Amino acid sequence: MKNVAVMGYGTIGSGVVEILDRNKEIIAKKLGEPVFVKYILDLREFPGTPVEDKIVHDFSTIVNDPEVSMVIETMGGLKPAYAFVKASLEAGKHVATSNKALVAAYGTELIKIAKEHNVNFLFEASVGGGIPVIRPLYTCLAGEEIEEITGILNGTTNYILTKMDKGGETFESALREAQDLGYAERNPEADVEGHDTCRKIAILTAMATGHEVNYEHIYTEGITNITEVDFVYADSLRTSIKLLGSSRLEKGAAHAFVAPVMIGMEHPLYSVSDVYNGILVKGNMLGTSMFYGSGAGKLPTASAVIADIIEALKNDGQHVELGWDEENLPITSMETMSF
Ligand code: HSE
Repeated sequence: MKNVAVMGYGTIGSGVVEILDRNKEIIAKKLGEPVFVKYILDLREFPGTPVEDKIVHDFSTIVNDPEVSMVIETMGGLKPAYAFVKASLEAGKHVATSNKALVAAYGTELIKIAKEHNVNFLFEASVGGGIPVIRPLYTCLAGEEIEEITGILNGTTNYILTKMDKGGETFESALREAQDLGYAERNPEADVEGHDTCRKIAILTAMATGHEVNYEHIYTEGITNITEVDFVYADSLRTSIKLLGSSRLEKGAAHAFVAPVMIGMEHPLYSVSDVYNGILVKGNMLGTSMFYGSGAGKLPTASAVIADIIEALKNDGQHVELGWDEENLPITSMETMSF
């Protein structure tokens, strides 16, 4: 049996605990042994619930327990997530995280620490919610030179744009719905201003090229200036407005941006609506592949974390090489691109 600790019992953390219970036989079969949630770190108590006895408030309980093989970070934000993840890796524990802010800001350092301590730092859930897209980049697509990644990478904004376009809803009411459905970040500014998409395209670019990417160098524009009139124009041109994150890669550089773009009906991302994300990855041998599915939400995102738990624990005592190192990749930011 493998003991794990979950840090943060919010939407994603509670989803992870739920799937570990509901799919326990499947998970045990894939891993060869069961996974047991020993601790849940949260500021709150959950009296009268099945997790009541697992709640701890002090991170040292987790990091000092040699029985804990893996830590699952679903707190979000950088403080205290960064310090807790770093200490967990240094203590020889695997870490899986859904926290794109953490991966975009500290991915290079945390991967290096994981390598030094022969453990795994995995983050499939940090991009595209439940869609497998990080792992394919270092497994199935490992032999490709990736030339371009373009995607709808934020479920909240895609939900808002879909409702404003097809349902005639206001920005505010669509955002409220996305928050109620558990898609939006705690501070939805990160979604609607494009910062969440920016971090995700930076992570994908780092995975595709193997180099550190400074997301602050990526031109980023959100959807807060989009109005009904824009949809009227888009409709008349038989296009749809989508918030895209895009990175065109050349040897040693990336041209990247995040912005709302009008895309035509023939484009594969045109019909990606509601909370769905769609990611096009172009390899020099394979051509273009599309990854599509639920880009946010409790169980889809938690499902990606579960896959990381199995991957990390299956590779106990062995660091899985992600091919992302410290060398910095220059970013040329672009405000426009044709699609
Ligand atoms: N707020 C994010 C989104 C959650 O809407 O896509 C998933 O990363």
